[in-house]
Amino acid sequence: MKAELKKITQNGIKVFEIENDNGMRAELLSYGAIISKLFVKDRNGNLVDVVAGYENEDDYASDICYFGALVGRVCNRTAGAKFSLDGVTYELAKNDGNNHLHGGVEGFNKKEYSAEIVGPASIKFSRISPNKEEGYPGTMTVSVTYTLTNDNALEIAYEATSDKRTPCALTNHSYFNLDGDFESVLDHEVFIDADKMSDIDEELIPTGKLIDVKGTPYDFRKPKRVGKDIGADDRLLHIANGYDFNFVLNDGGIDDVRASAYGKKSGILLQVFTTKPCIQFYTGNFLSGEKGKKVYKKQSALCLETQNFPNAVNMPSLQDVVLKAGELYSSKTKYVFSTK
Ligand code: BGC
Repeated sequence: MKAELKKITQNGIKVFEIENDNGMRAELLSYGAIISKLFVKDRNGNLVDVVAGYENEDDYASDICYFGALVGRVCNRTAGAKFSLDGVTYELAKNDGNNHLHGGVEGFNKKEYSAEIVGPASIKFSRISPNKEEGYPGTMTVSVTYTLTNDNALEIAYEATSDKRTPCALTNHSYFNLDGDFESVLDHEVFIDADKMSDIDEELIPTGKLIDVKGTPYDFRKPKRVGKDIGADDRLLHIANGYDFNFVLNDGGIDDVRASAYGKKSGILLQVFTTKPCIQFYTGNFLSGEKGKKVYKKQSALCLETQNFPNAVNMPSLQDVVLKAGELYSSKTKYVFSTK
């Protein structure tokens, strides 16, 4: 096991490295609490970096894809970039047309965090998000702890408190290609334990309606090649240009496999465990040749973002995502790797 400060970049970003006893290792940044590298073993025992990102850590400052980052205060889209709470309407930063996406113009992905080594292969990043940051009420203390375990899990534990009621829905935005070549994820096999997914409008905002996935291109209840139905002539696939949908997880919890993705070339299987109720399955449809460790073309990577119902703050009947003053927000996601 290892947890150490590896280097400090020209712009002052601290790069940490954590490693388990099997040689699986991750690099983590004090900027954006970003997972910049994640090396896991393929079926031949060779280490493969399975996450998208930049070779030069200082390049994350101009990233628009949220590669590997902590996303908050509220991930996904908030319709009209506003919401009402206790009779007050809060205007949020608009950074996706008329809407608010992933915490705004300078969300949690664009901030510097203080870092602490908290275990043999564990780093905790923390920050105070000031009142009115990107339009949100309340001063919020947020932390995310990344831990590698010897059963080849990367555990992500989120915590937050606020001095005022404020919506809070954190996620991590890693883009995976389990073959590590970042050519295409269309041959990856994906499983998602969800009978239902959120319908969306033309602006990718959930309408509030839930769609039964049975018999649709959105049925991943058995592992399925991503490319099998991605080209189907279906309204939602046309809107999103591929998969970019909120899947509502069936009953279960942190001990159940909620989703998985498998790279046939490497034999690497990623299994997702989470306390969250939903997963955004996104096939990198907006990637357009970003240059990083690799060149990231459309659908060269996929995200399985564990999340709350998108836009829930405007649809409280779906889920309450408002953190009460003085209460602890706490959620956990595990990305577990194996080969087959
Ligand atoms: C969203 C996409 C968005 C992307 C930004 C994903 O979580 O679902 O619609 O474009 O993040 O990188």
